[in-house]
Amino acid sequence: MNRRQFLGKSSVAALGAMALRTRASAMPAVLAPSPESQRARLDVVWGDRVGKINRNIYGHFAEHLGSCIYDAMWVGVDSSIPNYNGLRKDTIEALKHIHAPILRWPGGCFADQYHWRDGVGPREKRPRTWNIWWGRDEGNAFGTDEFLEYCRLSGVEPYLCANVGSGSPEEALDWMMYCNGKESTTVTALRAANGHPEPYKVRYWSVGNENWGCGGNFDAETYAHEYARFVTYLGRYAERGTVEFVACGDFREGWNQKFFETLLHLPAGRRAIRNVQQLSVHHYFRGGLGQATQFTDEEYYRALAGVAVLEARLEETIGLIQHYTTSQNRVGIALDEWGIWHPVPGTGAEALWQSNTLRDALLAAVTFNSLNSYGEAVSMANIAQTFNVLQCIAFTKGPKFALTPTYHVFDLYQPHMDAMALKTVVDSPTYTVKPLTQLPPEFLAFLGGGGETKRTYLSASASLNEAQKQICVTLVNQHLTEPLEVEIRIPGLDSPGVRGGSVRELTSGNVRDENTLDKPDVVHPSAPKELSVQGNKFTHIVPPHALETLLLQVA
Ligand code: AHR
Repeated sequence: MNRRQFLGKSSVAALGAMALRTRASAMPAVLAPSPESQRARLDVVWGDRVGKINRNIYGHFAEHLGSCIYDAMWVGVDSSIPNYNGLRKDTIEALKHIHAPILRWPGGCFADQYHWRDGVGPREKRPRTWNIWWGRDEGNAFGTDEFLEYCRLSGVEPYLCANVGSGSPEEALDWMMYCNGKESTTVTALRAANGHPEPYKVRYWSVGNENWGCGGNFDAETYAHEYARFVTYLGRYAERGTVEFVACGDFREGWNQKFFETLLHLPAGRRAIRNVQQLSVHHYFRGGLGQATQFTDEEYYRALAGVAVLEARLEETIGLIQHYTTSQNRVGIALDEWGIWHPVPGTGAEALWQSNTLRDALLAAVTFNSLNSYGEAVSMANIAQTFNVLQCIAFTKGPKFALTPTYHVFDLYQPHMDAMALKTVVDSPTYTVKPLTQLPPEFLAFLGGGGETKRTYLSASASLNEAQKQICVTLVNQHLTEPLEVEIRIPGLDSPGVRGGSVRELTSGNVRDENTLDKPDVVHPSAPKELSVQGNKFTHIVPPHALETLLLQVA
């Protein structure tokens, strides 16, 4: 049997076909590669520009959940942990180092329980409430002004999620006025009294979160009407071109289609989608993947193969958006929650705290290779969640601090931000994972039915930074034990082609290796090493279970 497989990612038209090619017919659980099969080929097609990679796909998400906010972002003005007016310094520095572009807040499910007025003004007067979703007390010390100051210090764009489920258009409009208002009103005077006379100019606003579930249990049609009601007021108030609205979507059960159809047929809808700039969808890799640090080899491959399900869903959504919009009112996909979700308790101060291994990092890298290949169609992605929760980028506990393996992926993918995606064609040996059985329906829904999946060991993406005359190629060898010799060709790149470059690597002795608060540096990236490659064809060896970032200089 020929195990090699070409995977081309170019136009959206080709994407559906590609999704089909990643499915497989009956094969064993995990293929043992033959010595012959450890070679792969990657074509980076110089002349095929797929579209600009929006830097916001390297975004983050922080919810009032476990210790994502309290301890990691807010330590309080009297804390002995280094802080700027109560905002934790080391986490701010971590976000600055990776040039984190955007941060979504305050939820998550919490967003549709949150009333922004509870979190402004003198802290000692703020109400104590109870976080019904994640079972812990909420003292409201960290509110709008603290969040926006945290964003300013970290250099990230804020992205606010308004309360639809238990809120009102009036409350959301007041929040927008508080953040962005220039007029002299009671609410802008309140902002000034709280120390910020100038508008914050918050650009990104989502109208609820998961409104098919914790955001109010709407059906798609009812949510569409609610959405239209909210943006009637928010859209009228927002200065043209200064705000982007993100609507709640869902990959499952025809939600997106029903949502668009309902908007199109509103009495005053003018048969066009208006006031929707991005559509929020969420995707967690969960179920059948073992534990965070204890998993079988098959569970390792199953986790990475899960990206195929995400790809199929994104491709379907891209097709749907193309159907309902034109280039004049195109809607981007905001994958504003994603990541691996291990089986851990979900309430209290340590809710959804999970270990983070090299497996998680490689999953993030494979996901980014995929997101890069969609060019402008994916406008945002926010990993869940920034600190101490799910697939976080750093752990904190009191004065202790550790970067996770996943953090280093964000670091190694920085050169892709705002660069032009180039088409990549992968020819690589493959692995196959068996279908899952006996999983509860909610997991199967996330896993796309758990069908058998065939994936190439090599995952790759490439982009061009015109200004720096640099191609960035990110390669993941998903094979657990064998190195992969990759022939890289850049067809269309004129002589002299590549003139040297550098490489950084992220791997570790065991894919189960993790960074903890006591051993924070077990998994760390290498320093850049020089690459003496020339021309438009060369070979590069990627070790097993490793990510490599190649920066190639072109004339
Ligand atoms: O990230 C944890 C939760 O997952 C979020 O609150 C919710 O939006 C999603 O279901």
